[in-house]
Parts: sequence; C-alpha cells; structure tokens
Amino acid sequence: MTAADDLTGWVAVVTGAASGIGRATAVRLAESGAHVVCTDHNGPGAADTAEAIDAAYGRGCAHPHTLDVTDADAVERLVTGTAEQHGRLDIMVNVAGIPYSRPVVDTDEADLDRVLAVNLKGVFFGCRAAARVMTAQGHGSIVNVASSAIDTLRPNVACYAMSKAAVAQLTKTLAIEVGSRGVRVNAVAPGVIDTPMTAGVPHAANIEAAALRRIGRPDDVAWAIRYLASPASGFVTGQILRVNGGTAMPG
Ligand code: NAI
Repeated sequence: MTAADDLTGWVAVVTGAASGIGRATAVRLAESGAHVVCTDHNGPGAADTAEAIDAAYGRGCAHPHTLDVTDADAVERLVTGTAEQHGRLDIMVNVAGIPYSRPVVDTDEADLDRVLAVNLKGVFFGCRAAARVMTAQGHGSIVNVASSAIDTLRPNVACYAMSKAAVAQLTKTLAIEVGSRGVRVNAVAPGVIDTPMTAGVPHAANIEAAALRRIGRPDDVAWAIRYLASPASGFVTGQILRVNGGTAMPG
C-alpha cells in the first residue's frame, strides 16, 4: 500500500452494502484501512457484511446500519451522525439500486416512481448529505454507481437507463459545484457484473460483446470505486469511469 491508496483513519459510508458491488466496495475500503459504515435497507445483510469485514481485518472498523436511501431524512441523519461520531466523513459511495425491465408502454407510474426513487433520488440524497458535510470540512470524495445503460441502448430498460443517465449528470454537476471546496465527485458505469441482480440473466451475448470476453466481478467495480475514493485519483473529478470490459468506449 502506498500513500496514494492508504485510507487508514478515513471514514466511509457505503449504501447498498449488503450485496454485490456495495458489499465488495465496503470490503475493499476496509482493506485499505478505512472505517466503513455499511448501510442497506436489508439490515441483516448490512450486518453480515460488517461481520465479514471485522472477521477479515479484525479492527472493529465496520459499522452496520439499516438505511433506506429513499428516506431523505434518514440519509441525512445517517451521514451527519457518522461525521459527528467519527469527527469526519471522507468517502461517500452511493451504490444502492434496483433493476427494472419492461417496455415503456407497459410501465405504470408506480413502477417509474419506484425506480427513480431508489436509483436517482436515493443517490441525490446521499450526494446532498455528503456534500453538505464535506464542503464544510473542506475535503471528501463522493462516488456514485451509474451503469453501462447510459452508453448502450437496449429496449425495455428506459426507466433504469433514465435513472442512471441522470446519476451521471448529477455527478458532473455536483463536481462543478463543490470542487472549489475540496470535494471530488465521480461515478463508475459498470457493464454486466456477476451479482444477485444479474443472477439468471443469460450472459453469452454479454461475454461476446466485451473486448475482455467475460462479465465483471464485484471486485472489478470495487477496485475502481476505491481508486476514485482515494488520494490516487486526487486530480479526477466529474468523471464517469467505465468498468465494462470494453463493451462501450464513448468518445
Ligand atoms: P445487488 O442486488 O447485489 O445489490 C443492491 C443492493 O442495494 C442490495 O443489497 C439491496 O438490498 C440494496 N438496496 C436496494 N434498494 C435499496 C434501498 N431503497 N435502500 C437501501 N438499499 C437498497 O445489485 P448489484 O449488482 O450489486 O448493484 C449495485 C449497483 O450497481 C446498483 O445501483 C446497480 O444498478 C448497479 N449496476 C449493477 C450492474 C450489474 O450488472 N450487476 C451493472 C451496472 C450497474
């Protein structure tokens, strides 16, 4: 570990930490020395991630919390409470998200509201709460999880793609707003990753479409998030880092 990726003493909040990419991210941040607040609306799942971190790193550095990201007040309380308890908040990772696949003509308003509530407003609430704390303390890194759905157009995923494209725009806009106060804001845009979200999805076409001829693993994304969270990316902000095995290469 070098100074560029040493997170010893840093404090991180991760949403969606019970499973998949969020769980891997919490583990990798702890591996680099951070105290990690593992949050999820699946409370037992968040606790399980925290236990795994403590078992692996043995420092009591994981703190589980039940948190539904659609509850703006709860997100605000969790983030400000973390900063008060630990005296700082260095990293905020907004991972929690849900899939949705249905043609536009068959999508009702309740479904649209649910996808936007979790995937977009949930990220917005996390960004807003963290940005308030981080701009006041004069430093911090926010990392959001978008998706390759912002690049690769497919039928039936309008709600999901809309939510993730909006996350990309939120990321860039917030980066401009808070950069002068020492806060960086970036996102990852993962391709297909082997998590519970994609269990049961046939992967042959996804493997064929990737330059690297495989789908991703949660750690592929977690390592990219850790880079964006750490001093190693100190001059990187407002960027959308594709972690997709080479399926989409915009620009
Ligand atoms: P996952 O289903 O394994 O994990 C998602 C986590 O979010 C779960 O632990 C779930 O309990 C939590 N969650 C859902 N709604 C929540 C809410 N309202 N409040 C708090 N937590 C909530 O899925 P995965 O694959 O790890 O997905 C993580 C993120 O990565 C999502 O935002 C997803 O859209 C994104 N993503 C995933 C890809 C994939 O291929 N797996 C590809 C591109 C993006």
